[in-house]
Amino acid sequence: MSDSPILKVRGVSKFFGGLTALNNVDFWVNAGEVVALLGDNGAGKSTLIKCISGVYRPDHGQITFNGHDITGQAPMAIRSLGIETIYQDLALAENLDVGANVFLGKEKKKRLLGLIPVTDDDYMRAEAAKALQKLDIHIPSLRQKLVNLSGGQRQAVAIARAIYWNARLIIMDEPTAALGVPEQRKVLEVIRTLRDQGIPIILISHTMQDVMDVADRMVVMLRGRVAANVPRAEATVDLLVKHIIGAGEMS
Ligand SMILES: Nc1ncnc2c1ncn2[C@@H]1O[C@H](COP(=O)(O)OP(=O)(O)O)[C@@H](O)[C@H]1O
Ligand SMILES: [Mg+2]
Repeated sequence: MSDSPILKVRGVSKFFGGLTALNNVDFWVNAGEVVALLGDNGAGKSTLIKCISGVYRPDHGQITFNGHDITGQAPMAIRSLGIETIYQDLALAENLDVGANVFLGKEKKKRLLGLIPVTDDDYMRAEAAKALQKLDIHIPSLRQKLVNLSGGQRQAVAIARAIYWNARLIIMDEPTAALGVPEQRKVLEVIRTLRDQGIPIILISHTMQDVMDVADRMVVMLRGRVAANVPRAEATVDLLVKHIIGAGEMS
């Protein structure tokens, strides 16, 4: 473990009835690092992410973020410390525009005639535009409803929302799974831009090429345990696949 990881997961276990989803997991993220989380279906990746984001409470172990003990805290408390999680379904509002989606749940209000509270759509669009610009993402009209945007543009809106609220760690669950090739490339570029801005990322992906392209370190899970921790310099697709299927295990 490096000297000063910003996120530290120590000895975390999680049980669902008789099933051990996480078994004494140690995991960490250093400042400015992109960490890929790999593993077959059922390996425990989502459960680990949900323990970090507060959706699940670990049964054992401790999670700290920037020195705060966040073990078992509520999702809103964890978000307010700067951990933003982008789930696969993105959790966006299809019938609202880009600005409203960046502000979802935290809408900016103004008073009409100094009296009637209404949402301040111009302000939210302008702020959303700034967040997208930071990421070098172009969406032709921010008045577009989300339903009219492409998969990559929606992914961009979800990421813009995360950074707008000052994310200090972004967790992405399969961000390129549903995208076309040009959009996948854009999302990978955005991941690099975020890293260059010093924002660490945990990336769950099944796409080996994405992982090889952007990750600084790869952590492979197997049946609830961490099976391997591979720095980019030592990683090959072959080696990662071996760990994923358990062929790298000691006999
Ligand atoms: N809410 C739950 N209730 C019961 N079992 C669960 C629940 N969530 C996950 N599991 C089980 O925990 C194990 C790990 O699942 P998960 O973390 O979703 O794996 P991954 O994301 O790597 O595919 C699997 O065996 C899964 O069936
Ligand atoms: Mg999963």
